[in-house]
This record gives sequence, structure tokens and C-alpha cells, in this order.
Amino acid sequence: MTTASERMAAAWTRAAIARGAVAAIDLDAYRSNIERCRELAPDSAMMAVVKADAYGHGLVQCGRAAREAGAEWLGVALLEEAIRLRDAGVDGRILAWLATPGADFAECLSRDIDLSISTLWALDEVTAAVRETGTPARIHLKADTGLSRSGANAEDWPALVEAARAAEGAGTITVVGLWSHFAAADEPGHLSVARQQLAFDEAVRHVEAAGITPEVVHMANSAAMIELPESHHNLVRVGIASYGLSPQVARVSAAELGLRPVMSLRARLASTKTIPAGTGASYGWDYMATSDTTVGLVPLGYADGLPRSAVNTGPVYSAGSTTHLAGRVCMDQIVVELADSSAQAGDEVVLFGAEGPSADEWAKACGTINYEIVSRIGPRVPRVYVGESS
Ligand SMILES: Cc1ncc(COP(=O)(O)O)c(C=O)c1O
Repeated sequence: MTTASERMAAAWTRAAIARGAVAAIDLDAYRSNIERCRELAPDSAMMAVVKADAYGHGLVQCGRAAREAGAEWLGVALLEEAIRLRDAGVDGRILAWLATPGADFAECLSRDIDLSISTLWALDEVTAAVRETGTPARIHLKADTGLSRSGANAEDWPALVEAARAAEGAGTITVVGLWSHFAAADEPGHLSVARQQLAFDEAVRHVEAAGITPEVVHMANSAAMIELPESHHNLVRVGIASYGLSPQVARVSAAELGLRPVMSLRARLASTKTIPAGTGASYGWDYMATSDTTVGLVPLGYADGLPRSAVNTGPVYSAGSTTHLAGRVCMDQIVVELADSSAQAGDEVVLFGAEGPSADEWAKACGTINYEIVSRIGPRVPRVYVGESS
């Protein structure tokens, strides 16, 4: 087993050095987090949520690694994400849950992808795709139990269930799943939690009374997996925890949960200089050196996904010390304070991840959540996968 430092050193491939920046994705950590999540929900199957390019970590690489770690299911939002997984040769069950009228359901059916259904229009379009392809659909009926996002409201649920039952009777679809999503599972005392669980229980009872017996019933995301064992049913859908980040930073840290960060955002200094007291740095001079200060130029900016709200506060680790941005985030670059006045071009700095500040610290500095910090890191930053073999 390699150490985290060895894995991070391996991330500096020629291409990463040429770019001056890398998002090192530690697949050992990812697999270990999935296994840890399985311990937290021991009686349920696991859906690894890999939507949004696996929260910025790489859809296909994480999809494969999740399977290696035993995740029976992969979950994505967009149909095209599911199609990409299949076309890359990822097998096993995949659920896609977000579509608008005219979506390519037929492409999904021909690739054996499970589909979420919340509305009658979607059921109609899926049954039309079944007729077109000759392939029956496996669907998961989604109840809106209080998030007011996707899912059928309680008033619309009976009609949707009845239409699904009829389609099942006609042999076009099989209802394999019943599901919903929490609004505030990360705040266990939040009044929505109990209300949503009651509403979901009611939706499940209604479906069972209609004679439908789904294979999986699922509601829990990472926070519910951790806090609400009664919500596990027989499948949990886990995103942020699998990437080694806590869904409830204020209550429990990732390390306390036994999770390891998967993404490390690292860069090499393009140049260093010492600026005298009274010198401003970056646009607008929001930073002003108060004494002679060594600063370094880092080739990452808001076009790479660094939030502009990190002005002066975004933490950066360099040569054993954590300092911070000097001034505003530019499109392609940032200036950072350096504790070591002998730092040179080519030296490594770590923005977040293993051996550096956490994505949680970046989120705090930027007034956002760790989910956004990792998932917004853009395609100009090469992903290098370390820890590929277990
Ligand atoms: C429908 C659905 N299920 C599960 C998840 C996973 O949530 P988390 O990353 O909090 O585990 C998400 C992510 O937002 C989601 O949209």
C-alpha cells in the first residue's frame, strides 16, 4: 500500500507538470470511503452517486472504482451521464433521474439503464421509447415528499401509480424502485425530516396496496446514511461521503467518519517575488502587503473553478505552512502569500486535499459548501488518477 505522499508525488505526470496544476484523484481513498459507507448502512445496497462528473472527480473512473468497491448501483442526474458510463463499458445497474420532454429515453433503454419517473409525460415518453426499441423499461417512481423538486406530489401520486400499474400490466415497464430525496437530512432535527419520512411511508403503502412490489426503496443521501438509519430502506444513495467529505461539517468531520479526501488540488508556482510593505496585489488592490512579503503566482483562477469569493482568504499550503490568497482570484491565476521567502518557481502548493487545507476550509472561506468546491473544478485542470490498483 502506497502512502498518501507517494500517491500525490505520482500525480505530477509530464502533462500535469506542463500545465502547472493537477487535481489528483485518489481512487484508493474513494474505494475505501465506499467500503466505509457500506459499514454505515450495513443492511442496504449502495448506490454510488457519480453525477456531475462524479462531483468533479471523473465520471467513468469513479464509476469503475465504485463497482470495484462493491457498489451495486451507480446514480446520475442526466441521461447522457448514464450513456457515457455504459459506452465506457461500465456494467451493472445505473439509474438516471433528470430528463425533460424529448429526452433520449430510447438510447437509455437500449443500454439497459434504469429511469426515474415523476410525471405522466415522462411515463408516456418512456412507453413510446419501449415501443420504438422493443426493450421494456425498468423504472423508479419518485415521490415528492417535501423538497418540491422532482417527484410526484401526494395529489398526483395515485394517478402516476395507476398509470405505472397499467403499463406494468401491459408489459412495457417494470416498477423496480420507489424513491424520494430529503430536503434537510444534514439537519436531523429539521421539521422536514419527520414530515418527509411520513409522506414517503404513505407513498410506499399506496404503491404496495396497488399490488406493485419494487425491488428497491430508497431515500437516504450521505447525511441520512449517517444520521437516520431508519431512512436506509434497502438502498442508500451516497455522493459526498464517498468523495471523503462530510455532508455535515458543523456536526462531524470526514476524518471522524473514517473518510479520506479523494481530490487534492495542487499547483506549481509560476514565479515568486518579494513585494515591499504598502504594495498591492491582484486586481483592485484588495490585498496590501503590511511588511516585506514573498508572494507566488499560481496558474489557477476562476476559469478553473476557484470561487472569486476566496479573495484574501482561500487557504493555500506551501512548504509546511498554510497561508492564503493575496487579493482577488483572476480568470487564470491567483497570487498567494508564502511563508518561506526562499520559495521558487516550480515549488508545489496545495489548495486543498491530502496534506493541505480541506475543501471544507475553502468552502468556509468562500461561504459555500464542500460539494461546490470540488464539483466546480473545471476541465482545464487535468485529473490524474492515483491508487488505481488496490
Ligand atoms: C437525488 C439525489 N440522491 C442522492 C444524492 C447524493 O447526495 P449526497 O452527495 O449528499 O450524498 C444527490 C446529490 O445531490 C441527489 O441529487
